[in-house]
Amino acid sequence: MNCRAMRKRTGILVALCLCLFVKESLALLPHESEVINKCILSYGGLNPETAERLGRFKDWAEGYEEIPCFTQCYLAEMFDFYNSSTGFDMDAVVRAFGEPVYTACQRKLELPFGSGLSSCQHAYEGFHCITNAENHPFTVIDNMANISLSAKTAMKECLQNVDQAKWKRFAAYGEYPVIEPIPCYTRCFLDKLHLFDQQTRLWKVGAMRQHLGVPARGASIRSCHLQRGKDRCATYYKQFTCHALALA
Ligand SMILES: *[C@@H]1O[C@H](CO)[C@@H](O)[C@H](O)[C@H]1NC(C)=O
Ligand SMILES: *[C@@H]1O[C@H](CO)[C@@H](O)[C@H](O)[C@H]1NC(C)=O
Repeated sequence: MNCRAMRKRTGILVALCLCLFVKESLALLPHESEVINKCILSYGGLNPETAERLGRFKDWAEGYEEIPCFTQCYLAEMFDFYNSSTGFDMDAVVRAFGEPVYTACQRKLELPFGSGLSSCQHAYEGFHCITNAENHPFTVIDNMANISLSAKTAMKECLQNVDQAKWKRFAAYGEYPVIEPIPCYTRCFLDKLHLFDQQTRLWKVGAMRQHLGVPARGASIRSCHLQRGKDRCATYYKQFTCHALALA
């Protein structure tokens, strides 16, 4: 998923997507660059070095905010889901990122026990968790629309067989690249769902629609089964992509 797609999905944000600084043609959210500049003023403002650091926001250590108090300042200025005294607003976080993200980070998002006030550390740890959970493949799967529970389970099970180092490639599926991001992954979950009839050599289109929400009704998919890749996995991927992208 590219920055723009991510931004569209959540209505957010910079630190996740620093390519926005580099590509001037892509506008930041209104006021975002001003806010960022303000929030890191005492660390030299927005310059190549601070921009590079912010670009790695997701990789900052869990308990250590590299630009201290940046997150609290940024969130409080930019978004309604965070208030610098009362902390994260559960409903607003759910609206912005989805229930699975809230649940994954709940422990970090609630105010620390015995403290009535949010802090720089609370803001950082909560938001750091959100930005990482949001792209966790299981969260992406849980947030998918029009996908059956068995399809979600099959997708998660198939990921368990994949080396975790490759999990970050999962987001790329959203753009349907020509080469499958995780080779054989599509074949794994389609087989688990029994969507290809081995006897007739045909796709069970009705079941595919029921489980995966594609192809669209009335889409022209007649030539999809003719597509071929370099091996069986690549063929599955090509044919599935063809069904998913076919227009009604
Ligand atoms: C944050 O919450 C406090 C307490 O509810 C409220 O007084 C304040 O106006 C809120 N700040 C913003 C920016 O909404
Ligand atoms: C989900 O299905 C509904 C009704 O079939 C449709 O209107 C909607 O566009 C679908 N959403 C996605 C993300 O495909």
